[in-house]
Amino acid sequence: MTSKVLIIGAGGQIGSELTYTLRQKIGVDNVIASDINKNNLELVNSGAFELIDAKDFDAIKNCVEKHNIDTVYLMAAMLSATGEKYPEAAWDLNMTSLFNVLNLAKEKIIKKVFWPSSIAVFGPTTPKTNTPQHTIMEPTTVYGITKQVGERWCEYYHKNYNVDVRSVRYPGIISWKTLPGGGTTDYAIDIFHQAIANKTYECFINADTELPMMFMDDAVRATIDLMEAKGDDLSIRSSYNLAGISFTPTEIAQTIKTHISEFQITYKPDFRQQIADTWPKSINDSVARKDWGWEHNFDLEQITNEMLTQLIKTVTS
Ligand code: SER
Repeated sequence: MTSKVLIIGAGGQIGSELTYTLRQKIGVDNVIASDINKNNLELVNSGAFELIDAKDFDAIKNCVEKHNIDTVYLMAAMLSATGEKYPEAAWDLNMTSLFNVLNLAKEKIIKKVFWPSSIAVFGPTTPKTNTPQHTIMEPTTVYGITKQVGERWCEYYHKNYNVDVRSVRYPGIISWKTLPGGGTTDYAIDIFHQAIANKTYECFINADTELPMMFMDDAVRATIDLMEAKGDDLSIRSSYNLAGISFTPTEIAQTIKTHISEFQITYKPDFRQQIADTWPKSINDSVARKDWGWEHNFDLEQITNEMLTQLIKTVTS
């Protein structure tokens, strides 16, 4: 029997592309998109859509029952930069939505859950290079705290209630279809938009701040591969380290210059620099590679090529 999927937060950066990819894979009718608003018109018009506040348990439950959903991807969250402006709202959204979905699985109303964690679970005391799967985790942002606590709850629900929950710690995700909202790694997307529009970019992260990043296609593939893996193969039920590439603003600017020679970058770090300073430079994802065969495809040159090509098409169409 084909699985029937609900994506919560489907209007967002990752949720939207996950929805399109899953619809291609298992059929438009088998993937229900939901979000708190209808702002993403392309998504809303592309198949079944339900207006759902991720904090509303009954709304999620009603939707699950109405559509016979067995699998939920919870992609709604307040990210690191916005979370620092609204700490209590970030805690409320990120934790309430997770409990809503975990409890549906505990009650056996759904069978499987995907919930993303993030490199934000790490903090200033974490080893910065080749950060291991199991290490010191003392996050300093509210977003990071919600993700770390969320990981503990996922493992708890798996161990104690046999909930099939799966998770990866996404690095910064680079994409062109839907804009990100309120993250620290968003600079690596803004830079492409500004390079095309103005040939200059004022970067809110310092020149030599190295962060782990990944192209959207890799992130979506990782998500679906993990969900399709055999449960017995998964040794991690908190969240898997997941790596693509790592680069600094200087390095991405240099790569853009090979396509747009006039491009200039300037630096004006703001509060997001302090957040970036607490995160790893690179991630060791050997456990994901071993357990479910994870491997990234896109390097910085390929990402740059794809971002510029696709964004130029969008601007000129
Ligand atoms: N991209 C996220 C952020 O910057 C990290 O998971 O908040």
